[in-house]
Amino acid sequence: MTSDQQRIDSFRQAAGRFASGVTVVTTALDGHLYGITATSFVSLSLNPLLVTVSINSHSPILDEIRASGVFAINVLGRHQQDVSACFARRGRGRSKERFDEVETHSEATGAPVVTGALSWFDCTVHTMLSGGDHIILVGEVVSAGGGTGQPLLYWSGEYRELSTAEEAEADIGRIADSLSIQLHLHGMRAEQLLEAQHAVEPAAAALAARAASDDQVAQLRDLVEESEKHVHDASRYNPLSLEFHARLGLLSGNPAIAASVGALNRPRESVYAVHTNAERATRAVEAHRRILQAIEDRDEDAARRLMTEHLGVVAQGMPC
Ligand SMILES: Cc1cc2nc3c(=O)[nH]c(=O)nc-3n(C[C@H](O)[C@H](O)[C@H](O)COP(=O)(O)O)c2cc1C
Repeated sequence: MTSDQQRIDSFRQAAGRFASGVTVVTTALDGHLYGITATSFVSLSLNPLLVTVSINSHSPILDEIRASGVFAINVLGRHQQDVSACFARRGRGRSKERFDEVETHSEATGAPVVTGALSWFDCTVHTMLSGGDHIILVGEVVSAGGGTGQPLLYWSGEYRELSTAEEAEADIGRIADSLSIQLHLHGMRAEQLLEAQHAVEPAAAALAARAASDDQVAQLRDLVEESEKHVHDASRYNPLSLEFHARLGLLSGNPAIAASVGALNRPRESVYAVHTNAERATRAVEAHRRILQAIEDRDEDAARRLMTEHLGVVAQGMPC
């Protein structure tokens, strides 16, 4: 193998390790529709609203986009792998038959928007830049939209989906967040918050000592170290300190514990925002360090006991 070929292969391999979503870039000209599957989408600028996508300079869609002056980028959902495959078929000229398989409608510019796409950007052509054997298409976004759902992903030469474990975690996070908003809106008193923390957080700390991965523990350490730098600045310290408590729920590996700890996030924010000063913050960081050490040592009993003690000390500073 030539060294050039080796470099190309290494480049391909390295680029293939970059995970991305999947889009279909579409345009319409004289009543005909065109589309090409592309993963090279990037959201570029907020002011003005710009996006880019890189298209092989031999692709006939570039002439159509040049002539029409408009295009849409359709972000595909997890169930649209067939749409991706359909527009990844090589084909010069007009692609009307492909659009017979895929339902579209128009929004602002008249470029076809794939019905059921996870999201879409309807664009006018801002610039077309040369980039080696590709053209970097820069679009000014006239209109954008979409719904909720899971994305179609592409990684290492294959279509992928978010795993069900990640999905479940995201669902639990959303439910816990809306519960925590409700608890906050209904007004949770400091003593009620502490009772609830006493009920779930020692268990979360103990389970985290058993279940957290080494990476997760390292991230927890970074969080504690970052919070220590800001003990004199409540506005920066508070969110980091609260994040420590919230993170333990997720590290427990138990969805019910994660949801219960997450449900306390907003009440925790409002109660502790009022009751922090530098001295209390310094003591809390020391307690967090001890709990972290127990988790690192995989010592479940110590993690549970240290969290209980920490909450006891926290309670002494509360007007309850
Ligand atoms: C997952 C995936 C991602 C792709 N991303 C791009 C891309 O970003 N840019 C590009 O020019 N082609 C990309 N392609 C290749 C084109 O979709 C494919 O070559 C298409 O058939 C070209 O059609 P054309 O002959 O009408 O240009 C991708 C293909 C797949 C399957």
